[in-house]
Amino acid sequence: MDLAQLTRDLESLRDEALGQAAAAPDSAALAALELELLGKKGRLTGVLRGIGALPAEDRPGVGAAANTVRQAIEAALAERGAALHGGELADRLERERLDVTTPGRPIRRGSLHPSIEAMGDIARVFAQFGFVVVESPEVEDDRTNFQMLNIPPDHPARDLWDTLYVDVPGRLLRTHTSPGQIRVLQSMAPPIRVLLPGRCFRYEAVDASHGFEFFQVEGLMVDEGTTLGDLKGLLDQFAHATFGAGKKTRFRPGYYPFTEPSVAFDVECLVCGGPGCPACGRTGWITILGAGMVHPVVLQYGGLDPERYQGFAFGMGPERISMLRHGITDLRLFLENDLRFVEQFR
Ligand code: PHE
Repeated sequence: MDLAQLTRDLESLRDEALGQAAAAPDSAALAALELELLGKKGRLTGVLRGIGALPAEDRPGVGAAANTVRQAIEAALAERGAALHGGELADRLERERLDVTTPGRPIRRGSLHPSIEAMGDIARVFAQFGFVVVESPEVEDDRTNFQMLNIPPDHPARDLWDTLYVDVPGRLLRTHTSPGQIRVLQSMAPPIRVLLPGRCFRYEAVDASHGFEFFQVEGLMVDEGTTLGDLKGLLDQFAHATFGAGKKTRFRPGYYPFTEPSVAFDVECLVCGGPGCPACGRTGWITILGAGMVHPVVLQYGGLDPERYQGFAFGMGPERISMLRHGITDLRLFLENDLRFVEQFR
């Protein structure tokens, strides 16, 4: 091995390496090439192994030349690396391109069941008059559902509420929300203004206007000097907010054991207002709810002195209100959970 040969070997390695670097097809090939040329067991090291055979005065010159070759190869590898990287980035950007203008997939939103929606609407109207919503149990006891509402065990008025009993003696599924009146009277002090919405149960043969399960919204106001006129004024406001500002209303005499006097509250027929109407029959009036002045016996069971306090109560069916507003003719639709029905209330 002589100096001239070694120098030629270095130069040809450099020339070959520069060509290979420029031609490397991708970063992986370039990394492999780098190892092959400059690695510990690489070709440059292989060429330099010949240095040991040279006379001592020639060695520094070859060392310097080898460094120059290494730098040239490193520069070529780096240059190709940068070029490949730029290209690969561009490729990847192209491949993974996102069209940010594509419209999103719509999110399917749920909606409230029409019974719940109707109760919310009712509560919003009465909230304007200071009524707050209170809850009361669905499984009641006979005393609260009946006896303290002035309906003794053998009273014929029990026939008004066909009852579903549970297998605990004295317990039943509440037939109306009125037992909530007792619970409120026993736990709150006048002035009282509450709304008691909730599920009720009756042993009924199911048809287009009767269900064994339905909702009611009970209202109760108790204060000193509360009158039937206050009740009428409040219910008028409710009817106008719910069915239209100009609607006529009326009280008719009614009967409930827990109110005295008792009334039925009617609104002018929404469908026709005339004879032969499918909604009201021939009367021109539609009954919306039952109401009355809280019976003194009920106030007493609630722990209040009827000489000092008076109150009124009313109870309505939100499904009935919803049926009137939307022209629905069958109560059963509310419980069947047929999407074709409930989805119309979005
Ligand atoms: N609880 C009665 C019913 O279910 C409705 C009602 C409530 C009547 C409050 C008067 C006062 O039919």
